[in-house]
Amino acid sequence: MIGLTSYGGYIPRLRLNRMSVVQNMGWFAPAIVMVAQGERSFCNWDEDALTMAVAAARDTLRGMDKQTIDGLLLCSTTLPFSDRSCAGMVKACCNLKDEILTQDHGTTLRCGTSALIGALDAVKSGERNNMMVVASDRRMSKSAYFYELWFGDGAAAVTVGTENVIAEYLGSFSVAHDFVDHYRGTKKDIDYMWEERWVRDEGYGKIIPQAVEGLCKKLSIAPAEIDHVVYPCFFKAEHRKIAKKIGFNLDRVEDNLHEVCGETGAAHPLVMLGQVLPDLRPGETVLLVGFGQGADALLFRATDAIKRLAPRMGIRGSLERKEECDNYQKFLKFRDMIQTEMGIRAEAPTQTAMSTLWRERKMLLGFVGGVCRECGTRQFPKMDICVNPSCNAVYTQDDCEFADAPARVKSFTGDLLAVSVDPPSVYGMVEFPQGGRLMADFTDCKVDDVFVGQPVEMVFRKRYTDSERGFTGYFWKASPIDAAQAALQVGPDQDFTDRVAVVTGAGAGLGRAYALELARRGAKVVVNDLGGAADGSGTSSRAADKVVEEIRAFDGQAVANYDSVASKEGGEAIVKAAIDAFGRLDILINNAGILRDKSFMKMAESDWKAVLGVHLDAAYYVTQPAFAHMREQKYGRIVLTTSAAGLFGNFGQANYSAAKMGLIGFMNTLKQEGARYDIHINTVAPIAATRLTEGLLPPDLLARLEPENVAPAVLYFCSEDCSHSGEILNAGGGYFSRSAIVTGPGAMLGTADTAPTPEQVRDQYSRIATMENAEEYPNLTAAMAPMMAASTGDAPQTAKNADAASAADIFAQMPNVFQKDKAAGIDAVFQYDLAGDNGGQWFVAVKDQTLTVEKGKHPNPTTTLAMSAQDFLDMTAGKLNPMTAYTSGKLKIAGDLMKSQLIAKLFKF
Ligand code: NAI
Repeated sequence: MIGLTSYGGYIPRLRLNRMSVVQNMGWFAPAIVMVAQGERSFCNWDEDALTMAVAAARDTLRGMDKQTIDGLLLCSTTLPFSDRSCAGMVKACCNLKDEILTQDHGTTLRCGTSALIGALDAVKSGERNNMMVVASDRRMSKSAYFYELWFGDGAAAVTVGTENVIAEYLGSFSVAHDFVDHYRGTKKDIDYMWEERWVRDEGYGKIIPQAVEGLCKKLSIAPAEIDHVVYPCFFKAEHRKIAKKIGFNLDRVEDNLHEVCGETGAAHPLVMLGQVLPDLRPGETVLLVGFGQGADALLFRATDAIKRLAPRMGIRGSLERKEECDNYQKFLKFRDMIQTEMGIRAEAPTQTAMSTLWRERKMLLGFVGGVCRECGTRQFPKMDICVNPSCNAVYTQDDCEFADAPARVKSFTGDLLAVSVDPPSVYGMVEFPQGGRLMADFTDCKVDDVFVGQPVEMVFRKRYTDSERGFTGYFWKASPIDAAQAALQVGPDQDFTDRVAVVTGAGAGLGRAYALELARRGAKVVVNDLGGAADGSGTSSRAADKVVEEIRAFDGQAVANYDSVASKEGGEAIVKAAIDAFGRLDILINNAGILRDKSFMKMAESDWKAVLGVHLDAAYYVTQPAFAHMREQKYGRIVLTTSAAGLFGNFGQANYSAAKMGLIGFMNTLKQEGARYDIHINTVAPIAATRLTEGLLPPDLLARLEPENVAPAVLYFCSEDCSHSGEILNAGGGYFSRSAIVTGPGAMLGTADTAPTPEQVRDQYSRIATMENAEEYPNLTAAMAPMMAASTGDAPQTAKNADAASAADIFAQMPNVFQKDKAAGIDAVFQYDLAGDNGGQWFVAVKDQTLTVEKGKHPNPTTTLAMSAQDFLDMTAGKLNPMTAYTSGKLKIAGDLMKSQLIAKLFKF
């Protein structure tokens, strides 16, 4: 079977609110308001068609063996070089093998679909095995023009091959016409457009139907039979008209994404396809059309494999990860459409030595560093000597790719003096937990949002433009990502090679998804399943065997086990199966489950016992022998499976709810007993379409709840990276959240001499029961502390109390937070003029490592800081960044500006 084997995409984070164009330019071109709905995507100043192509290609390669790619076709009308293979650059950035065909396709917006047909033909002919097609465009347009609003920037990619096909290729049909709806002459940056009505009626309205009808005839299929229809057309009304004309079902025509990103040129057919693919169900067909001096129509049919793809950002993820912008000037500046003074520093020479570029190509484009063969230490850049002081071996460095390695901010700064299109320039030290660090520029972030320890991903971006010679220089930068995204990001770094995992109840549903994903990432898996019915009756070895076969089909390692989790012997046998087959056990996922739902009064003892046996008793039976091994080897990751029914209650599930909540207590204690052995235990509360939920949830909802969407949370809990223990994550349909048991601040009743009464409890119930300022406690002792404090008369310390300071309090506290050791050699007087309620004047003098704080005005301050008292409170509480306060005018500084920067160093509030 030939077809698509993977997909990925990239839409830049920045989205321009189209109304901002109208607000700024509506006086000049009022008609643009007609297409000013929603937002369009646009590149950051350091992005272009090439960097977006690299991002889309990397996304597509997730979970794949990239060395199998033997052809890469890059399609774009806006690449940064007219004569330098940009496809070759994408190949280098992705570290694909050298023995590969690379081609650049352009000069028509249809190049993406035409190249895709070429790639499919090459695979069909047997000439190539796995091809990648990447399409990307960053089109320019004149200001205050319809096209400025219609266009968006973006990229998408697919791979095609014969193995693990996610959408089978059924055929294609192309028509070619020299229909010039727009063109871009050589040496021009901006397209010349012909009249829209003509383009719509003669172009889109006739040429797309011709290609589609040709394909339908060739494949003997009626348009109405097609499940999803994807074709670009930025005229919203025409988009639907074409569908009607051809005879598609209107509800099957996919949105042209005008409101969320705009039309992304040569990339748009694949961008729209990328938006649809995650929703395809096995067996459904999707028609893809590319338009531009003719049209290409291709038809695909989804296979079962589509649901087994490794998680990716995709077009959907990129669209969600956005930063809204209503600053039209910023948009123009980032596209180099307004000239600003960049300062003398910007004139520094930028010539690139091609010899160095070639010599260091792996480092510069591929972001390849070194790893020492002797001690395993990673370093960037790669050098002849190992940086590990206790190794220092010479010539022992193997290549080590850093682009996909997890990374964190070690230190950073915002520099207003450095040349930057988007000041302040943010840069700092990036550390890779698996080894290695480097100084890097940061991108796609504001200095206020960056913090030490923040996870970042490495992205390929523009560094400089040598306009004299027409050369653009690129390198890798750090882009901060939020913690949840990093925690759940399942990248190649979450590798389970050499780890041994037991997954109970892995013959179906959620357990199967966990087992497959663990095995795909290198784990050796014991697939345990009794193979019974949903109520626990019956047995069969088939369920576990089938999953083992699936794992072995992609060369994964797995053995089957058919023991029941609900007995001591069963638990021991399951753990023994791991030790016998693979010699150790690192991961245990307690997942097996059954249901015997009955309203409480109808619940027989057998229903109660069966459910508690499989869910709660089993956790004891299987975990105890597993824990023994983990304790011995001082490492283990255990995942339990609870349920919303237990956490929150559900009619007819008293047995199940009791068992599922019992597991939380089990976890709370084991997290403490396992801590010193690096055994972490966490719990997932899944929601997924499996046989257990078949009749319970509406079919529409079930369609969105693939078990694969729960797996990332569970795999993260199973990983070495997971430092959490004792946490509950809810996971379903790609949505993740945490549940926790919290306790309110409570109230003390009675007095030292009189016992509290039931009447007091009744009357004071709202005080007792309030959950305002509720807290989570790590253990029983901590949970008792507030009660102990209240009974001895000490007010419990809460973060809120500490917050309620006035400016006067802050100055009173200053001697306590003064960093004497940082004050050596400093002689300065800081005068504070605080306006508004609780304001006043104070000065703070630092000399000979001593501090003086006084109310009033100093006759000769080094630096005077004027702001409102509230802003001062916010700043010391860390809620207001001093740099932001200064640049926004909230903080005014007189005197020695540079000295003001010492304050953060001298006082740690
Ligand atoms: P499923 O029925 O598809 O899979 C459960 C598997 O456990 C079955 O293959 C079954 O044969 C196996 N099993 C049952 N008793 C066993 C025993 N004694 N020994 C070994 N294997 C046994 O169900 P699903 O939905 O995948 O459930 C997995 C876990 O997730 C269960 O613990 C369930 O309670 C929990 N859960 C599922 C939710 C959902 O939305 N699907 C919601 C909340 C919790």
